[in-house]
Amino acid sequence: MGEITEALRRGRENASPVPERASPPPVAPESPAYREALREETRAPAPDPPPEQVTLSTQQDNGWFARALVADEHGAPAESFRELALRVRRELDRRSLRGVAVVSALRAEGKTTVACNLALALASLTRDGAVALVDLDLRNPSVRRSLGLPRKPGVDAVLRGETRLVDVRLAIERPGLDVYQTGRVETDVQGLLVGSKFVTMLRELERRYEITVFDTPPTLLVPDAAIIVEQVRAALAVSRAGLTGRRSFAHAVDLLTPARVLGCVLNEGTSPASAKHYGEYYGADHGGDPSE
Ligand SMILES: Nc1ncnc2c1ncn2[C@@H]1O[C@H](COP(=O)(O)OP(=O)(O)O)[C@@H](O)[C@H]1O
Ligand SMILES: [Mg+2]
Repeated sequence: MGEITEALRRGRENASPVPERASPPPVAPESPAYREALREETRAPAPDPPPEQVTLSTQQDNGWFARALVADEHGAPAESFRELALRVRRELDRRSLRGVAVVSALRAEGKTTVACNLALALASLTRDGAVALVDLDLRNPSVRRSLGLPRKPGVDAVLRGETRLVDVRLAIERPGLDVYQTGRVETDVQGLLVGSKFVTMLRELERRYEITVFDTPPTLLVPDAAIIVEQVRAALAVSRAGLTGRRSFAHAVDLLTPARVLGCVLNEGTSPASAKHYGEYYGADHGGDPSE
């Protein structure tokens, strides 16, 4: 027993200390690894891939109105959209904002039509590539159909983290407008809109564009528009004559926080040839309520 204890004591005394974890050898400034690390650090970000170029057709079927500006740049609807664009731009400048969500209480009031034409009008007043149109009606996307665009991955894929924003950009040639379509999202739309990828996407749009126009779903039917306007902080309310009641309109504006509503477009839904197609009531000038 004594021998064993003695052997253990001697063993402990002779045991070499546990080696400390070796720190990596310093990288010599002239080594290839050092030069590679330096290159990584100073490398400029990869350039954007070239966007898919699209020319809007003027031979539309049901989309005549959605493409009013392209079909007839000098016509009355184009003229009233240019006037609307100037007012929206002025109001966004005044508030130091770079995006506006086109909203309405219900469906079929003309949100997508107004969003497309407003974006085209803003683009025609601005240098190429300064304006973007983004379809955030994730439940019923219609910008692609309205403008007759080719089908490709959209912002839904960006929000799911499957692709980058620059990879889903479509560049309309005349006027120069970047369009981001979306695919239909079947589940957990709200999850995508409250996620951090949505905020990151909005910040990227702010960095890239002077103005971004967002199409949205009906405010009274789903909570999406309220969530979007919370982030974008500016809305343009569309109301279709004979469709939206005064109460529904007021309720929708309340849901969005009235101070965020820049103004209202009254979509009269009369003949496309009529100059009265869009009667507008705008912000401070008219108190912002079309039913007054
Ligand atoms: N002022 C208008 N005159 C004629 N048709 C219109 C007018 N505004 C919208 N439309 C048509 O009504 C339908 C619904 O419009 P849309 O813009 O898709 O509404 P929302 O996006 O609010 O659901 C579309 O077919 C569109 O072309
Ligand atoms: Mg729509």
